[in-house]
Parts: sequence; structure tokens; C-alpha cells
Amino acid sequence: MVNQDNDNDPRLVAFENKVAADQRIEPKDWIPDAFRKTVLRQMSQHAHSEVIGMQPEGNWITRAPTLRRKLILLAKIQDEGGHGLYLYSAAETLGTSREEMVKALHEGKAKYASIFNYPALTWADMGAIGWLVDGAAIVNQVSLQRTSYGPYARAMVRICKEESFHQRQGYESIMALAQGSKEQKEMAQDALDRWWWPSLMMFGPHDSDSAHSGRSMHWKLKRESNDVLRQRFVDQTVPQAKFLGLEIPDPDLRWNEGSGRHDFGEIDWDEFQRVIHGDGPCNRQRLSHHVQAHEDGRWVRDAMRAYESKRQARQVA
Ligand code: 3HC
Repeated sequence: MVNQDNDNDPRLVAFENKVAADQRIEPKDWIPDAFRKTVLRQMSQHAHSEVIGMQPEGNWITRAPTLRRKLILLAKIQDEGGHGLYLYSAAETLGTSREEMVKALHEGKAKYASIFNYPALTWADMGAIGWLVDGAAIVNQVSLQRTSYGPYARAMVRICKEESFHQRQGYESIMALAQGSKEQKEMAQDALDRWWWPSLMMFGPHDSDSAHSGRSMHWKLKRESNDVLRQRFVDQTVPQAKFLGLEIPDPDLRWNEGSGRHDFGEIDWDEFQRVIHGDGPCNRQRLSHHVQAHEDGRWVRDAMRAYESKRQARQVA
């Protein structure tokens, strides 16, 4: 097995040719170590985001204002857990087990989306998360359906269908508040004020500061850059906010006739760096909750393993 990527290796040439020809890379294909590491890093980050992302919304299940809202929220959160499972399974095709990925998360070696380190303070946040967070996620994920690693691309197809429902339910939920009483409209505006900038941070650093984008774009793992996707999200969300009668909290936001896009203000990159390095408002809480839930589920995993080894022993006998 080759551990170091060697430019003259004919397998590397075959791999690069396949990527250049827009063919999917499959688990049976030889891949360079650097490619394996990059896909695994992104997929594990993505899977952990789906699972940790269940926490801010899970916090509101018991306080949903109606049975209908509770059912929708439950279904959405369950979908997110499912997305995590598809992605862990797809990532396992790269030779790293889910146990190893979860261990890296618990040890602080693997990241998850920065946005989930912000608290969900009011019911309006459930609408804002669906509208903005799932809205930002889907802009990125539609493009990931064409990522070059086959298992990742296929997982994204179903995930995108579900995320699209999530975005719509969020928009419908925040619309009910925006068109409700004065207090409800204020709650909707307050949620937009708090979730807008973290949503823009979801797309990652500017292209010029993105450590992995160059390679990921070359290997077609990423089809579009962080800044291109962020701009698309802004352009699609501004008219949605206008329709709701809500104001995006950015004094520099304006339509640019020349470029045909919205100009917008600078993200607080110091805050972004703090959050992705463990010092956001809820980082410790999110991780310790995950560790606790993982410990609480240990007996289920042990029972499944015991059942499986007994079943195999019976087959051999
Ligand atoms: N949150 C946390 N970490 C982030 C981040 C963010 N918003 N943006 C960037 N980073 C991290 C990167 O992971 C990388 O860290 P590492 O070197 O330790 O891995 C570092 O910052 C440098 O950033 P790069 O731009 O170089 O990293 P990438 O090329 O990987 O691009 C990305 C970042 C755009 C987030 C990319 O990883 C990606 O597209 N990931 C897949 C999509 C994803 O993870 N989505 C999660 C969204 S939430 C979700 O889907 C749940 C849904 O229910 C809403």
C-alpha cells in the first residue's frame, strides 16, 4: 500500500484523469492519501454537524406552541439524525469507522458547523433555523450532489430533498410570526438579527483564506467556492426577508446594479475563529451533551454486538 502520494505513480495519473473526466471516484478505486484525508475531513465534519445540529431544535420540542408545530419539528430533527447516519456510512467507505469519527469529535479533533454553537432562545429561532440555517446548508449541499466522491454525492441527493422541506417549514413558521401580532413580529426580527451573521459564517472563510478550497476544487470535491455559495445565499434570502417585512441586520447591504448581486458587510472573522476553535456561546454544552448521549447509548451498542456475535456463532455451529 502506498502511503505517500508520488507524482509518478501510474495510479495517481489514472486517478487525476478520472477526476478531470468528471467521473465519480468510488470506494473500490485507488485514491491518494491526501484525497482520502480531505474527503473524510469534510464528510465527518458534515455528519457531526447534522447530529450536533439536533440539539438547538431538540431543546424546543416540549415547548412547541401547537401539536402541528411539534410534529413538524420532531420529523425535522429526526431527518437530521438520519442525515448524520447516511454520511457516517458513506464516510466509512474511506476506511474509518463511525466509532473513530465520534472519538475524534469528542477529543476536539473533528469540527462541526459553527452555527450550532449559538443558543436557540425563543420559538422564533425554530423558524429562523429552518429558513436561514437549512437555507444556507441547502445552497451548499445542492452543489455537493455533484461532488466527485460517489458515496458522498449519492447521500446528498436524499439529504437535499429533505433539507428543502426543512427550509420551507422554517420559512412558513417564521412567516406566521412575521404576519402575527406586534410581539410576534418582534420575535421574528430578533431571531433574524441573531442568526443572520452566523448563517453567513456557515460557508467558511473567504476563498483567499480557505486552507482546503484549492485542492478540494481541483479534485471537484467542492464544485463551488465558499464565497460563491455565500453570495448565492444572500441573493436568494434578501427578497425572502423583504417579503416577510423583516430587516436584515447589515447596514452595508445593498443591491449592486453593476454586478447584479447584493453587496454586504464584512463578517466578524474573529468571532468565527473563536467559535470554530471551541469558544462559542454553546461549544462546551453541545459537546458534553453529545458525550453524555453517547455514554447513555453504550448499553444498546453492547447489546447489538453481543447479539451479532451470538448469531454468527450459531451460524458456524
Ligand atoms: N463551521 C465549522 N468549521 C468550519 C466552518 C464552519 N462554518 N467553515 C470552515 N470550517 C473549518 C473547516 O472545517 C476547516 O477546518 P479543518 O482544517 O480543521 O478541517 C477550516 O475551517 C478551514 O476552512 P476551509 O474553507 O479551508 O474548509 P473546507 O474547504 O472544508 O470548507 C465547508 C468548509 C464549506 C464548511 C466545507 O467543509 C463543506 O462544504 N462541508 C460540507 C457541508 C457541511 O459541513 N455542512 C454542515 C452544515 S450544517 C448541516 O448540514 C445541518 C443541517 O441540518 C442544517
